[in-house]
Amino acid sequence: MRLDVLTLFPGILEGFFTSSIMARAVERGLVDYSLTDIREFATDKHHKCDDELFGGGAGMLMMPGPVSAALESVGARESRVVYVTPGGRLFNQAYARELASEEKLVILCGRYEGVDQRVIDRYVTDEISIGDYVLSSGETAALVIVDAIYRLIPGVITGESLDEESFEGGLLEYPQYTRPAVYDTMVVPDVLVSGHHANIVKWRMKKRLEKTLLYRPDLLQGKGLEGELRAMILELIGQGGEA
Ligand code: ADE
Repeated sequence: MRLDVLTLFPGILEGFFTSSIMARAVERGLVDYSLTDIREFATDKHHKCDDELFGGGAGMLMMPGPVSAALESVGARESRVVYVTPGGRLFNQAYARELASEEKLVILCGRYEGVDQRVIDRYVTDEISIGDYVLSSGETAALVIVDAIYRLIPGVITGESLDEESFEGGLLEYPQYTRPAVYDTMVVPDVLVSGHHANIVKWRMKKRLEKTLLYRPDLLQGKGLEGELRAMILELIGQGGEA
């Protein structure tokens, strides 16, 4: 996948692309990226990229000229263009999977009050928010989006660990344990050291349902659970007799 990130502060993003799993993905040719400094496309001697709002109001807006020139420089018209903004569609795992299947993505980070609407109208295909809160910069939101996407590219992370993690299958992840089996009087659940694979699978599914019911019941809504899953959920909510 090719990722072109446009920002006024490339330094915020650099460490992510040159560290850890991302650095390995780049080295192995699974991800190719560029960080474009929008300020380099400013045309005045002060490299001005922001200005006041027409109609009045607090804060400054990123000007259309430098942002458009930066977008043109990375071939934005031929690609899906993500603009990170608290005013966008809410990001989630399904959205991450959808974007991970693209060959090229351009990501535009907003600063100040955001960018001039004409840039959005001409270039942006996806306005994305990472949650119902406001960050001081689009850069940190862009990092969240990039992180969620690139790890889904085949080969970046092994398939097994992706299948069972939170949100896959619409449920949160089950609790996990490692050695030692007894830590400071706290014991690993018996079933996990029993060697009985079918019981382990069942226990994990029950725990996924339990956690999802507790923290994210919204994920279960409209899911149409059947068979064993339905029986488990009825048992968890204390209606085991009706299963
Ligand atoms: N920029 C500022 N806050 C944001 C948010 N919640 N999501 C995406 N971009 C943002």
